[in-house]
Formats: sequence, C-alpha cells, structure tokens
Amino acid sequence: MKLHVTSFLLVTLFYYNICLVGSSGLHEVFTWTRITFVDPDSQFYRPRHAAISNKNRFTYSGGDAVVFPDDVPVSSTSTMPSLDINAEDSNLEYIYENNVPMGANRWKNKLFITIPRRRLGVPSTLNYVPIDKPERHNVPLIPYPDLKTNAVKAPADQEHIVSAYRVAIDACDRLWVADSGVVETLGNQTQLGQQKIVIIDLNTDKIIKTYRFKDSDLTHATVLTMSVVDVTADNCDDAYAYFPDLAGFGLVVYSLKQDDSWRVKHNYFYLEPQAGEFRIGGIPFQWNDGIFSAALTDVLEDGSRDVIFHAMAGTHLYSVSTKILKDKELATRSYHHDDFKVLGDRGRGSQTSASDLHKSSGVLFLAMVNQNAVGCWNTNKPFDPKNFDIVQRNDTTMIYPADLKISGDDIIVLTNTMPVFLYSFLDYDEVNFRVWMNEVKVAVKGTNCDN
Ligand SMILES: *[C@@H]1O[C@H](CO)[C@@H](O)[C@H](O)[C@H]1NC(C)=O
Ligand SMILES: *[C@@H]1O[C@H](CO)[C@@H](O)[C@H](O)[C@H]1NC(C)=O
Repeated sequence: MKLHVTSFLLVTLFYYNICLVGSSGLHEVFTWTRITFVDPDSQFYRPRHAAISNKNRFTYSGGDAVVFPDDVPVSSTSTMPSLDINAEDSNLEYIYENNVPMGANRWKNKLFITIPRRRLGVPSTLNYVPIDKPERHNVPLIPYPDLKTNAVKAPADQEHIVSAYRVAIDACDRLWVADSGVVETLGNQTQLGQQKIVIIDLNTDKIIKTYRFKDSDLTHATVLTMSVVDVTADNCDDAYAYFPDLAGFGLVVYSLKQDDSWRVKHNYFYLEPQAGEFRIGGIPFQWNDGIFSAALTDVLEDGSRDVIFHAMAGTHLYSVSTKILKDKELATRSYHHDDFKVLGDRGRGSQTSASDLHKSSGVLFLAMVNQNAVGCWNTNKPFDPKNFDIVQRNDTTMIYPADLKISGDDIIVLTNTMPVFLYSFLDYDEVNFRVWMNEVKVAVKGTNCDN
C-alpha cells in the first residue's frame, strides 16, 4: 500500500512538474476548444448534440452571472414548476456551444471544472479532469461525484446539484459549492431546486451535508457564485463559509457547527457606479456586479482572520474581520461603526472577478478581467498602486479570467473568453478555455510582489 501511494505521488509530481517547472508568470496547463464529457460509470453515456435554434433571440443583461431584473423574482420558496424536461433526455442533451466553464479548483489529482447551467444543454455542472494523466488538450470532463447527482431533474431534490459556478476546497478535504438551483434557458430562468450549500467529502466522494439557505439569507436578486471556507484542519466541525452575493449586494455567512446562516449588509458590497465600464475582447459593455470575491488571510494572533473583498464593478479593496462575520449578532447589527475598512483604490481599469490570497507569503492575486491579466499585491507592503504588479497578461489568450484559486502553494486560473460568448460568437475550433497554473513563488518572480 505504501509503495502504491509513493509511486502514485511520484507520477503526480512528474506530470505536474512538466508544466510547472520553468519561468515566472502563469503557464497554460489545460486547453479546450469546446467542452465534452465522459462518464466512466456508464459505457452508454454519449451526450447527444442538439442544435441551437434561436440563439439570436437571447438578450443578456447583468454581469458575470446572468440576471434578469425584469423577470419574476426568484426565491427559495417559489413554487417549483414541473418542467416538460424529461429527466432522462435532458440529462443527455448536450449543446456544446452552451458549455462555458466558470470555475477551476484542485484537490490531489483532480482538477474540478464547473459549468453553470446558464443555458440548456449542459450535461453536468460539477466535473473534474485527472491531473495525473498526460492529456492536456480537450480532455473530456467527468461528472463529479457522478452523473446522477448532476442530472437535470424537476423539481431537484437535495441530492442534486442543478447549477454550480465555482467551488471551494477546504483544509479538511471537503468540497463546498453553492447550488443556485436555477436552469437558465434563452432569456428565461427556471428554479428547479432550492438555493443550497452542498458539501462533499473528497475522500469518499459522498455528499455529507446539504443546507438550504434561509429566505432571510436571500433577496430576489441574489446570485451566489463563489464560496470561501474558513476552517483549520484541527477543527473541521467549526467551519464557516462566506458567500458573496454579487447581484443582491450582501454576504451570506454559514456556520457548519451551528448549522445556521445569516446575511450581512454593508454599502461596501455594492458596485461602484463609476467602475461599471468594461472593454473585453474588443467588446465594450457595462456591468453592475457588486461584491464578487472574498479572500481570507492567515489566522491572526487572536484566532481571527481578515476577509479582503471587492466588487467586480469596482476598483477598491475592502476588509472586515471574521470576528465580525462569525458572530451573528455583530454581523447583522444595523450600525456597523468601523467594522469594515477601506484598504484603498487600485486605480482605473483594475476591475477584478476572483481573487485569492497565498497565506504564507501574503500575496493577493487578482483576476483582472478588464486587462486580460492576473495581477498581484504583496499584502506585507503598503497599499499603494506602485506595489501592485502584473503576473501574466495576454490580450488573446487570457480573455476573461473567471476564476482564480490558491491551492497549496500553487495558483490556478481559469480563462474562458466569456464576453465574446455573451455578446458575439466563439469560434469553437480555436482554444477558448484555458487553465493556467504555476507555483506561487515562481509566478511572482521579478514582480513587485516577490518577497
Ligand atoms: C420560461 O420557461 C418556462 C418553463 O419552461 C415557460 O413556462 C415560460 O413560458 C418561459 N418564458 C419565456 C418568456 O420564455
Ligand atoms: C500572447 O500569446 C500568444 C499565443 O501564445 C503569443 O504569441 C503572444 O506573444 C503573447 N503576447 C504577449 C504580449 O505575451
């Protein structure tokens, strides 16, 4: 057994190092022209391709997440329509043009890739590709934990994941995901299940917990696309998760130990009105996404952490202590006094989707969507635009960094060319989706973020 583990590790390191050894910045590790799927459990699984009939009728408004402000409000208690989606058929329906990956994260030899159901024809929303195999281009996704959990079912029950944007992986080998419960069709969205948290034990591939958000956690506009988990490996039961609500402009806190959740409100969670102009992939547009991402610092002396957060349509960074967020009473008090801090303004054009912090070095990485770049700031240095730097930029290959995660001492970035998908047409014979990686300390070599 020991031998097996060792050789497995060696193989992992071997393949992994091929990509990572080398120069600073980020390296393309996986590339896709279009997304395909395989299901190892079912030799009969062959997604059937369905043609798009009315793509041009689709009107899009909102931001990174599709939001239709004029639609009937969505709430966790809205009645679940019984769709004429036949579970078996829709499960197999596959429209490759509608499969745009939004999230990437890693655990051991799995690279998780999430595809929110923003249109029909997504066979599976939570998936992975093996990282310890040599294949790197157009690797088919494997539904996780299995196809059944990812099947479209109306109404969806607690054991189904309807639509996942991004996943968090915690220090206790658990995967956390916020399921929106929504399937969006062309210009339409249908609530198939409740908005909930799903926690999966990565060692057993079993769902160990589902939690339905309370109505008081949500607004009619709520879109939860990111989860950040606050836990240490020696205290796995006492985990907190933070869910930025980018369209409802709030932050939802969940305590695993208390099995309770609450919604935090603050003006810093809103968009910044003058920072909503974007120009990506040659396409100008306006977005209004508020708080998008929250990065945790290492544990401070008093056992708390700071949460560094920002709006997508914004250029400031803010912070709040987990002492406030974890305490339901403090977190929800109506007057917040100086609980929330302004760290500073990063400057024009610095709009950022995901961000994450490498705890041991203190380097914060920012997925700078308006610059086709990944930026950085070493939080040990003063907040000053001159202490910010670019880790990697490319106007053709880095269009729309949609997710950015620190996994151990590595940085993982997913770029997906999304504005071109939304407002124009992707060429599915070209590489559209990429996962970039590097070791953090190598990635920042030669930048202002290097220690
Ligand atoms: C939206 O989808 C629902 C369920 O499929 C359908 O009943 C409704 O007519 C659709 N609305 C629009 C505007 O297409
Ligand atoms: C961007 O990537 C392309 C393709 O890899 C490469 O040819 C080009 O030199 C890169 N541009 C910059 C500025 O690095």
